[in-house]
This record gives sequence, structure tokens and C-alpha cells, in this order.
Amino acid sequence: MKIINSFIFIFAILLFISGCGKKSEVITDKKTDVKTETNQTGKPDAELIKKGNDIFYSASKETGLKCADCHSDGTNTNNIETKFHAPVMGATKRTSVYNGMFKGADVLKNACGGTECWKTYLKNETPLTDEQVNALNAYYISVSKGDEKEFAYTTIGAPTKDKAKLKEDQTKIASLTGDAVKGGTLFKDACSFCHGKNSTVKKVPSLAENKEDVNMKSIIYHIRLGSKYMPFYSFESLTDQDVADICAFILNNK
Ligand code: HEC
Ligand code: HEC
Repeated sequence: MKIINSFIFIFAILLFISGCGKKSEVITDKKTDVKTETNQTGKPDAELIKKGNDIFYSASKETGLKCADCHSDGTNTNNIETKFHAPVMGATKRTSVYNGMFKGADVLKNACGGTECWKTYLKNETPLTDEQVNALNAYYISVSKGDEKEFAYTTIGAPTKDKAKLKEDQTKIASLTGDAVKGGTLFKDACSFCHGKNSTVKKVPSLAENKEDVNMKSIIYHIRLGSKYMPFYSFESLTDQDVADICAFILNNK
């Protein structure tokens, strides 16, 4: 009898514990409850959109960079650099962003990849809050036309830096003949924003002054994998031939 009683007792405890487990799961879910609320007109709340717009256009104190420097929202077209990175229009409809770094429900929870850029390129110490994430998502929706499709690109810079593939790419690019004139134009569009003479972006090394460090391998490394806060470039935005041209420009230039 005693054994049966303690058996029932243990069973009850187990039931209780498993119940608790479920409960806390629901609570953690609640914490990251990120939504894209819309009002009757189908547009997100105007105040939330304004907050998202403010984040998108605020320069980081640490690096001097803002989201709008690298990503197009359809209006910041005078910054040529925005054509090398994913536009934010239609981002909330994507099922996978940042080359698979965020998938499914994690897409919205991470401002469609914005949380990663916030810490990598803006070097902000405190992470984006749920409210800021919601605000960015609302902003993306507000600038979308509604007809955007998945945005696909190929990269070896994310979700992890693929050093084996980088070696292959370095060998391949070294076998191409670079055109320094084309490379000069590409450099002006894609790199001078940070590496140019009039750049206001902080702590960017001068490629002309660091002659010993700047060689073909290092240029390809930085373009394909990125660096502390230098963005990586996909194979679609800069092809291997483009990279060979940029190398020819930089290395002849010194
Ligand atoms: C220095 C350039 C740079 C800055 C500044 C930057 N990003 Fe990014 N962002 C990238 C790169 C590189 C990727 C990876 C894919 C690509 O090249 O577009 C990316 C990816 C993304 C994506 C996912 C695109 C997709 O569909 O895969 C979103 C959304 C995004 N960033 C939002 C932001 C937001 C919001 C900010 C500001 C808090 C920001 N980014 C700041 C360079 C930048
Ligand atoms: C958003 C700003 C930004 C853009 C755009 C950018 N870079 Fe950079 N780049 C940096 C920063 C910052 C570093 C320093 C990296 C570090 O601290 O590790 C760097 C480092 C480098 C280095 C290594 C320099 C050295 O002294 O070792 C090379 C080479 C380079 N970049 C080439 C390029 C090329 C080519 C482009 C254009 C395709 C480009 N960068 C675009 C910010 C940028």
C-alpha cells in the first residue's frame, strides 16, 4: 500500500513538473512576441513606422554608419552603396534572410536580419528591444510596394565565414585578368563610401597607406567575408570578375 501511495505521489510530482515546463515555454514565447500589427487600413501604426524610420536613419556613435547607408528603402537612391546590399522593401514577407541565418518565425523576431547588422555594423552594445524590432518591421512594411518576392543571393560571408570556399575563390580570382579602369568605377561605387578621402565613417584604414597589408588575398578576404564592420559582398553584387577588376585598380594604384 505504502509503495503504491509513494508511486502515485512521484507520478503527481512528475505531472506537476512537466506542466511547469510547458508554462515557462509559453512565457519565453511571450517575451519575444514580435508582431507586425496593422490597423483597419492594413498599414502598420503611423507612430511605430516613424520610430522605425528614425532607427533606419540614425547614425551609430561608434562607427558613424546607419542602416540607410547600406540598404535601400526605395528613397535613399543617391547613396550608391545601397545597391550592393539587400533592399528592406518586402523584407517581412521573406521566409529566410541573411543567407539562412534567420528562418521562419525568427525572421520577424530579428527585424528580418536587422538585429545582426545593429551589432555588427553599428556596434551598438545594447541589443534592439522588441519594440524597436516591431518598429523596424513596421517601417519595412510601410516602404514595401507589396509585389516583392524572396530576395536570393549567394555568399560565403554568412551565416558562417567559409574559409575553405574563400581559398577556392582567391585561386579563381587570381587566374582572371583585372581591368583597372572598370575596377576604379566599382571602387568608387562600392568602397569609397568608407575608404574614400571624404568618408565620414570612423576607424576605416586607408588602403593607400597600409601598403604592406593590402594584397590580392586580403582584398578578396575582406570583400567576400567582411571584417569587424566592413560588410561582405555577395557573388551577385560583386562578381569574381568585378573583384579581379577592383584588385587591379587598388594594386596598380599604389
Ligand atoms: C555596413 C553596411 C550595413 C549596415 C550599416 C547595415 N547592414 Fe543590414 N546587411 C548588411 C549585409 C552585408 C547584409 C547581408 C546580405 C546583404 O549583403 O545584403 C545585411 C542584411 C540585412 C538584412 C537581411 C536581408 C536579407 O533579405 O537577407 C536586413 C533586413 C538588414 N540587413 C537590415 C539592417 C538594419 C535595420 C540596419 C540598421 C540597424 C542595417 N541592416 C545596417 C550590411 C549592412
Ligand atoms: C562600411 C564601410 C566599409 C566599406 C563599404 C568597405 N570597407 Fe573595407 N574596411 C572597412 C573597415 C572598418 C576595415 C577595417 C577592418 C578591421 O578593422 O578589421 C576595412 C578593411 C579593408 C581592407 C584591409 C585593409 C588593411 O589595412 O588590412 C581591405 C583590403 C578593404 N577593406 C577593402 C575594401 C574594398 C575593396 C571595398 C569595396 C568593395 C571595401 N573595403 C568596402 C570598412 C569598409
